[in-house]
Amino acid sequence: MKEINVVLSPSEKLDQYDVWLVIDILRATTNIVNFFDLGGRMIIPAKTVEEARRIQSMLGKEWLLAGERNMLPPEGFDLGNSPLEYSESELSRHPYAILTTSNGTSALLKASRAGGHIFVACARNAASAAQKAFNSGNSIGILCAGRNQKAGLDDIVCAGLVVDRFLKLDQGIALSDGARVALEIWENCFDNLQRGVRSAQHADLLIGMGMEKDIVFSCEIDQTEKVPHLTEWEQYPAIEGY
Ligand code: MLT
Repeated sequence: MKEINVVLSPSEKLDQYDVWLVIDILRATTNIVNFFDLGGRMIIPAKTVEEARRIQSMLGKEWLLAGERNMLPPEGFDLGNSPLEYSESELSRHPYAILTTSNGTSALLKASRAGGHIFVACARNAASAAQKAFNSGNSIGILCAGRNQKAGLDDIVCAGLVVDRFLKLDQGIALSDGARVALEIWENCFDNLQRGVRSAQHADLLIGMGMEKDIVFSCEIDQTEKVPHLTEWEQYPAIEGY
């Protein structure tokens, strides 16, 4: 029998599952999914800005340096963490990136240490991410990246949407209490994801920085079948898109 747990806060200890889906809807995992949708080929997730710079100095300038701290690109970075900054033409010239974000890339790296298949999920690939995880194992964890090691309402409501997509595949799937909390919150949005995501502190911060359009884009549901997967390339953890 399939079972799903939603880890509501990134500071929780991760159990071993066959599959992990990592969600940081605002904005890291939305950005990663969109990167591959636009034709990007590989992302190396880095925990710190210094590490990202060091990896770029080893791999060369053809690797884009991308990400954020306090929602803005660190000095010298080619791109920030807004999915709206990325374009097909830029990614056809530079399909490789090193990405570091405040919470999302750390959550991906944390999931990778727990083992199993690691997929990148957000609202834009919700149904496809659920399908991919469903096909990849019986025990499935959904890790909410949150903010500053604490729970984030934006990620929890998105996790509820993904749980809903799992239930569309199999109504009998066993849900942990974490999964039930996320599902209840999603159902309370009455199919309006923006309603839930805009209640999050992170949404207030993005709106305050003039980045409201990122919220609208991130809340579009089931727009793509791309489900990026964490793997290894050379000595680096790497994300590839399928
Ligand atoms: C994160 O990793 O915390 C985010 O994606 C922050 C952001 O860029 O809004």
